[in-house]
Amino acid sequence: MNVYDSERMTDVLAAAGYGPAASPAEADLIILNTCHIRERAAEKLFSELGRLRRLKEARAAEGGRLRLAVAGCVAQAEGAEILARAPFVDLVFGPQTYHRLPALLTQAEEHGATIDTDFPAEGKFDFLPQQRAAGGGPVAFLAIQEGCDKFCSFCVVPYTRGAEQSRPADAVLAEAKRLAAAGAREITLLGQNVNAWRGAGPDGGTWPLARLLFALAEIPGLLRLRYTTSHPRDMTPDLIAAHAKIPALMPFLHLPVQSGSDAVLARMHRGHRVADYLRAVERLRSARPDIALSSDFIVGHPGESEADFEATLALVREVGFAQAFSFKYSPRPGTPAAAAPEQIPEPEKAARLAALQALLRAQQSRFNEAMVGQALPVLLTGPGRHPGQLAGRSPYLQPVHLHASREWLGSIRTVRILAAHPNSLAATIEPEEHAAA
Ligand code: 5AD
Ligand code: SF4
Repeated sequence: MNVYDSERMTDVLAAAGYGPAASPAEADLIILNTCHIRERAAEKLFSELGRLRRLKEARAAEGGRLRLAVAGCVAQAEGAEILARAPFVDLVFGPQTYHRLPALLTQAEEHGATIDTDFPAEGKFDFLPQQRAAGGGPVAFLAIQEGCDKFCSFCVVPYTRGAEQSRPADAVLAEAKRLAAAGAREITLLGQNVNAWRGAGPDGGTWPLARLLFALAEIPGLLRLRYTTSHPRDMTPDLIAAHAKIPALMPFLHLPVQSGSDAVLARMHRGHRVADYLRAVERLRSARPDIALSSDFIVGHPGESEADFEATLALVREVGFAQAFSFKYSPRPGTPAAAAPEQIPEPEKAARLAALQALLRAQQSRFNEAMVGQALPVLLTGPGRHPGQLAGRSPYLQPVHLHASREWLGSIRTVRILAAHPNSLAATIEPEEHAAA
């Protein structure tokens, strides 16, 4: 979501006459777009600001000027605190106000350091430029939903991103058409709770996500669709059925479960049990037998016992994940779990994380190795690491490297998988593809 937001900030600034700088040393304005989800993500801001302060001072010594801005969820959560700790910052603004960037920059210019952490009544999406400044590659993000009303015990998102909001279907469809016309072949729909999307439909009704996916699949040139991140509670039967019926909907789903223990899920306020998750997985697999699954896990949530953690390992063994993200619980100020008395000691969290990650890594390797020898349709997305190489993406979101002509960028080609690495695949183009080209 932050990548998408940064791209949209680029669009807003382009309309105000700004262009991208090749390096911080050449920039007149530097915006740090920040994440507050875990403590370490937030800490990065202040170490980065320390470096930029020196750059700003050096610029001033040469008679020039560098402006610094902090955007995103740390800005939203810590607002004035950032200016107190880093008074050399010119502008602090949250994720809901970046459509106001040009006016905010003028205000900072005229009145000094400025903070805007409003949740404005006007939706920012209505005020962003329609044309994207960043040149359209074969893969694109499209935010359709923002915010969260679920208030999991550990999570800052409902506080920093605000209440759940869905963009209307026609706005999403129009943006998708523009992206496809600019060369996008694969679109990933984004939202903190993307499968909770319920948008106004052009027919006056309210559409669920499944309906939107059917409409998106009709757009010429758009060959692949994905959506992330989903909540198990909103994995409705019609959405699961869409995975059987829409060929463009890729067989990969990021569906965070967080824990494999009902006791922990209840403490986390997740609103589902382990059995609900397993049932959703079973239904997804009967709708789309080759669907690959990904998840997020938190270890060491307050009150998590050794037996609870073992239950998480058991769930991982039962489901089998193609990939996953896992984290030590990180207390976030203002969330209920941060104030819970049963905090887990750091060494315990670290040991659990290591055990979980070893299991997940082994599953990911097994998943990748199972591809070797298979023929897969790969979307060629950009240049590869070495000369003559291209990088692509399998239906299961695996990065694929192969030798191929640059003219094939943006097309889907059948490739033979030669080797599996922990995080990517190596492939060769099938001979009939050469003939076809
Ligand atoms: N500590 C650790 N991980 C967290 N996440 C969210 N909040 C926290 C926290 N306080 C993880 C969850 C979520 C992912 C985006 O980040 O697993 O799904
Ligand atoms: Fe955070 Fe996701 Fe829970 Fe919302 S559903 S509070 S975004 S973890």
